[in-house]
Amino acid sequence: MSSRILVTGGLGFIGSHTVVALQEKGHEVVIIDNLSNSSIDVLAGITKISQKTPAFENIDLRNKNEVKEFFEKYPDIEGVIHFAASKAVGESVENPLLYYENNLSSLIYLLQELQQKDNAYFIFSSSCTVYGQADTLPITENAPVKKAESPYGNTKQIGEEILTDTAKINKNFKAISLRYFNPVGAHPSAEIGELPIGTPQNLIPFITQTAIGKRKELSVFGDDYPTEDGTCIRDYIHVIDLAKAHVVALERLQQNREKTNFEVFNLGTGKGSSVLEVINSFERSTGEKLPYKIVGRREGDIVAAYADTKKANEELGWKTEKHLDEALKSAWDWQKEVVRREKEDN
Ligand SMILES: NC(=O)c1ccc[n+]([C@@H]2O[C@H](COP(=O)([O-])OP(=O)(O)OC[C@H]3O[C@@H](n4cnc5c(N)ncnc54)[C@H](O)[C@@H]3O)[C@@H](O)[C@H]2O)c1
Repeated sequence: MSSRILVTGGLGFIGSHTVVALQEKGHEVVIIDNLSNSSIDVLAGITKISQKTPAFENIDLRNKNEVKEFFEKYPDIEGVIHFAASKAVGESVENPLLYYENNLSSLIYLLQELQQKDNAYFIFSSSCTVYGQADTLPITENAPVKKAESPYGNTKQIGEEILTDTAKINKNFKAISLRYFNPVGAHPSAEIGELPIGTPQNLIPFITQTAIGKRKELSVFGDDYPTEDGTCIRDYIHVIDLAKAHVVALERLQQNREKTNFEVFNLGTGKGSSVLEVINSFERSTGEKLPYKIVGRREGDIVAAYADTKKANEELGWKTEKHLDEALKSAWDWQKEVVRREKEDN
C-alpha cells in the first residue's frame, strides 16, 4: 500500500533510519527538518541505501504559517511520524523555554493541521523517561508516569497528554505514542547513523568517540548501585529494530487494527545491560580496547530501566531481532565512517 507520510525530523538519527524502513516498504515519504541537529548530507545517505530520494522541505516547525503552507502544498499527507524535537536533557534544564517551545509548539501546529482532515494518523516519539525510576521491573505501559525530572522529559509527558485530549474529542484522529528505551547503533551500510553535536550525552557515542581517540577515556558514573556489577542498567535497542516498529505502528493505524484511537507502546528489547556489559560487548564485537575509569555517581541517573515488551510483541506484532553486539559493531563502523568523512573534508 502506498501513501504519503510526513516524517518530521527525518534527517535526524532515528528519523533517517525510519525513512529508509518506510521507503523499503513502498511508502512515499516527505521529510521536514530544519537541520538544527542534522546535516543535509543525510539525504544522500538515505538515497544511497534505499535507491530513492524522499521529498525534503527545510521548515522550522515552530513557524505556524510554514506548517500550514506545507499542508496546502501536500494535501495528500495521511500520516505523520513526528520525531522533530530537541532532546538533550542537560540543555533542557539550562534552557527550558527553548524545549517547551520547540517540542510543544511543533506538536500543536501539526495536530491543528491534521484535525482538519477526515482521517489522519500520528506516531509520536516518546521516551521511557516518562517512567522515571519505575517501582517494578521490567516496566509495563501501565507503570505510573512519574513527575518529570527535566523539562525535556516533561515535554514528552505533556505531548502525550495533548494527544490523549485530542484523540478524545476527535474520533477521526488516531495516534500511537512509542516510548523508546535506549536507541543505539547505525545502519549496517554505515551510510547513516547518530551525529552528536558537541560532547555526546549518551553512552554509545561516547564509547565510539573514545575508542577512535576523540576522547581520552570513558567515565563510568558509579559502580556502587544495587545491580550485579554495580553499574546502571538500561535497555539498548538497535535503531534498525526501532525504525521498523514505526512502520508497523503506522500500518496498524492505516489498516484500522488499533484498539483505541490513542495507544501507547514500549519499544525496547526487554533485556537490561549494565554499563560494564556494554563495554565488554563493544570490545568483543569490535576487537577494540576501550579506556575507561570508574568515577562517582552522576546526579539524576536512575539505577535500572528495561522494558516489558509483551504489549508491543503481542498487540503491535513487533519484536526486536538484533543483538547488542551487532548494534555496537554498527555504531563503531559508523564512527569510523564519520572520521573518514571529516578527514576527506579537511
Ligand atoms: N535518541 C534517543 O535516545 C531518544 C530516546 C527517546 C526518545 N527520543 C525522541 O526521538 C525523537 C528523535 O530523536 P533523535 O535521536 O533522532 O534526535 P535527532 O536530534 O537526531 O533528530 C531530531 C531531528 O529533528 C530536527 N528538528 C528539531 N527541531 C526541529 C524543528 N523545530 N523543525 C524542524 N526540524 C526540527 C533536527 O534537526 C533533527 O534532525 C525525538 O523526539 C527524541 O526526543 C530519542
